[in-house]
Amino acid sequence: MTTLTPILTKVWDRPDSFTRAGYEANGGYQAFRTALGMDPDAIIQAVKDSGLRGRGGAGFPTGLKWGFIPQGDGKAHYLVVNADESEPGTCKDVPLMMADPHVLVEGIIISAFAIRANHAFIYVRGEVLHVIRRLQQAVAEAYDAGYLGTDILGSGFDLELVVHSGAGAYICGEETALLDSLEGFRGQPRLKPPFPAVAGLYGGPTVVNNVESIASVPAIITNGADWFASMGTEKSKGFGIFSLSGHVTRPGQYEAPLGITLRELLDMAGGVRAGHRLKFWTPGGSSTPLFTDEHLDVPLDFESVGAAGSMLGTRALQIFDETTCVLRAVLRWSEFYAHESCGKCTPCREGTYWYKLMLKRLEQGQGSEEDLDTLLDLSDNILGRSFCALGDGATSPVTSSIQYFRDEYIKHFETGGCPFDHAASTVWAGEM
Ligand SMILES: Cc1cc2nc3c(=O)[nH]c(=O)nc-3n(C[C@H](O)[C@H](O)[C@H](O)COP(=O)(O)O)c2cc1C
Ligand code: SF4
Repeated sequence: MTTLTPILTKVWDRPDSFTRAGYEANGGYQAFRTALGMDPDAIIQAVKDSGLRGRGGAGFPTGLKWGFIPQGDGKAHYLVVNADESEPGTCKDVPLMMADPHVLVEGIIISAFAIRANHAFIYVRGEVLHVIRRLQQAVAEAYDAGYLGTDILGSGFDLELVVHSGAGAYICGEETALLDSLEGFRGQPRLKPPFPAVAGLYGGPTVVNNVESIASVPAIITNGADWFASMGTEKSKGFGIFSLSGHVTRPGQYEAPLGITLRELLDMAGGVRAGHRLKFWTPGGSSTPLFTDEHLDVPLDFESVGAAGSMLGTRALQIFDETTCVLRAVLRWSEFYAHESCGKCTPCREGTYWYKLMLKRLEQGQGSEEDLDTLLDLSDNILGRSFCALGDGATSPVTSSIQYFRDEYIKHFETGGCPFDHAASTVWAGEM
């Protein structure tokens, strides 16, 4: 049985975990002292050797991304931390920044030093004002201690760190839309290439990384690449935060090696809420195709989840029991995508709008099986034809729900309405 590996979550229950004093009392702000004495390229190599892959969803190798930043080009380099966290179900970065903002600040200092950036930004979702205040406080404390600013601890390295709050748009989590938003423009994705490593913020070489990716760096410097690589699976190394939500007895953040299964996680979380059974779940947020109880033993690593037909995404495990109408859940998600579509490209702008209208009708029991073919046809015209991954992601709940729950769609037409008691599914009876 795989056990938990509390590393990022280790101090979350300490009352002073978010203060500099609390962080340092637990060994914090040591790794960056080591890092500032290293050759920046050696830090990049250590992160490459650790096997750390981006924790923001796509799983791109972090050290490799850093290695794309051109060196000696005389240009200003930038590090941007993606703290937008707006994917439905994803809820790991917000608690991390609330409980332990200094691990992110320390990770930023090390990462910026490695890529030779003197300016870093944390782009945080605007609605989470409590998190923004906590980050601002942590950054101020780090400046006071001389860990940020000019000539950090006499190393000759300068770093300015800005906490920037967005206005609350899911698309601004897409890295190039985020950069446009940070520059003061409307947040819409940019054409790639050029990738941000070549032309990112203000046209300069830029690394964009997820909060959890950057927060994992201090532990890699302290404990070594081999230590990190000893956890997880062959190609998905290390640990990650798995966020269990929905119809589960003890929802919350479970930090474990990649490759753990939902069955194991549910055992630790007290199982599906009492008296009920698992119906469907998302392995990595609403943009990843649904899984069912057939997938309880799929190792939650990038390769295995992909081979089973979905994506690891952000490890946002939303659990739904048999009281949930899958059409209603898919309709809710589709309404979200239609609302959040930035409108730049036709397949996503029009497609998500039609998803919303069609699913609403089907959920009310109006329609026929032919509509399912229309939905799949529409999905074919969105997937792979959209300008960015928001459109692709919007198709996941629709196509996977038809794949696994076609009968449930048909039952809606046959009965002329929704056969579920929605009160039973929305009343959550778990423990806190
Ligand atoms: C619509 C959309 C929303 C996204 N939202 C986030 C987000 O909130 N946080 C995040 O880290 N990555 C998000 N991403 C992925 C980013 O584009 C990017 O891949 C990621 O920040 C890279 O960091 P990583 O390599 O550390 O994972 C989103 C992508 C899309 C298409
Ligand atoms: S896929 Fe959607 S969110 Fe992405 S550019 Fe097109 S309209 Fe905008």
